[in-house]
Amino acid sequence: DALTMDKIVSLCKRRGFVFPSSEIYGGLGSSYDYGHYGVLLKENVKARWLEAMVRERDDIVALDSAIILHPQVWEASGHVGGFTDPLVDCRFCKKRFRADQLDDAQCGKRPSKHPGETDDCDLTEARQFNLMFETRVGPVEETGTKVYLRPETAQGIFVNFKNVAQLARRRPPFGIAQVGKSFRNEITPGNFIFRTLEFEQMEMEFFVPPAEADEWYRYWIEERRAWYLRLGIRESHLRVRPHDADELSHYSSATSDIEYLYPIGWSELEGIANRGDFDLTAHTRASGTKLEWVDSATGERYTPYVIEPAAGLNRSMLAFLCDAYDEELVGERERTVLRLHPLVAPVKAAVLPLLGKDAEMAGRARALYEELRRVLSVEYDDNGQIGRRYRRQDEIGTPWALTIDEQTLEDDTVTLRDRDSLAQERLPLGRVRERVLD
Ligand code: GAP
Repeated sequence: DALTMDKIVSLCKRRGFVFPSSEIYGGLGSSYDYGHYGVLLKENVKARWLEAMVRERDDIVALDSAIILHPQVWEASGHVGGFTDPLVDCRFCKKRFRADQLDDAQCGKRPSKHPGETDDCDLTEARQFNLMFETRVGPVEETGTKVYLRPETAQGIFVNFKNVAQLARRRPPFGIAQVGKSFRNEITPGNFIFRTLEFEQMEMEFFVPPAEADEWYRYWIEERRAWYLRLGIRESHLRVRPHDADELSHYSSATSDIEYLYPIGWSELEGIANRGDFDLTAHTRASGTKLEWVDSATGERYTPYVIEPAAGLNRSMLAFLCDAYDEELVGERERTVLRLHPLVAPVKAAVLPLLGKDAEMAGRARALYEELRRVLSVEYDDNGQIGRRYRRQDEIGTPWALTIDEQTLEDDTVTLRDRDSLAQERLPLGRVRERVLD
């Protein structure tokens, strides 16, 4: 069967990855809460990104800037004036749409929606709707200072350019990476965790000599594509799509999206933009602080260009889930399995005593579990039929199950079950650790 978003939503709910937010109050649209396995999967994706961007490189440093910045940041960045979606309302069905994303399905062109009237939605003129959430700092609603929840993490990087460039002792080309929450008052329907009001971004601003900008732009498109492939995303489910001139954000001179083939069709997973000197120049002008590169040896100075790979953590997690989801017949029985790469799987190995009530088996299993949990994400489960326990681990994407049985008590071996091939092999207890660590 074709993969649908409903199947992913259902698995996420059933196995405790993701729940609708505030569910006992009926949920809040485009808002989700992450349960245990959701957190583990999301944290793994984030760790792999930080590894590839910061730990494994000499030319990128990390930053964690505030979510609420000085409001002038967003004036200077162009977000107060330009971070908008064109919005139209239907006078009949009262639905709200993005003017640039109208299609028949979305705007409910059905007679039943508009009794006694024309079949078509009666749309208002488009008006610009700013996506930033506003709030106030200070005790009184009217006198407090209006501030914004950041709609991208990038600006926290630009306004710290001088601090980091001086203290990190880096010269262009070098980058600053940050992972954190961003907020957007999105008006189009969410498609599960694809588009939500709050989400985590993994962004890196790479500062380069202007003459090298094109080269680095191409480099980062390829580098980021390779990251998804290394973590097991199928090549046929990824494509790079350069933006047309009329799609470009207000700050960008060139952008390419890495798109993933979600169940809803090809959609943006990550954007790689050439932001030129737009941001550093704008903040220099507005703040009076020169955000430029000065070579202390030669006295050379210039405003670097910025190449920005900007990924969504939640959207990546959704791509990993969709790519991993599989249903297959094993004998008579259908099983659902998440074929997640071991480097992102929430649990790497499950330790299962065949008979949970057998004190000796349980004791052996417990000891193995205690040993492995010091170095890996492992789970111990002695509850219910072994077949049901295997299916549970398949659905959360655990690559290996280790079963302790009668024979273990005699010869200190365990069964290692491979999630994907279902092959089982017998392994001495002492070799389990190296086997699941590699
Ligand atoms: N600093 C550049 C920037 O923010 P963007 O294309 O607007 O660019 C980057 O966002 C990434 O953030 C997107 O590719 C997507 O993965 C993620 N993202 C953006 N809006 C989102 C939302 N409402 N919900 C979930 N993820 C979102």
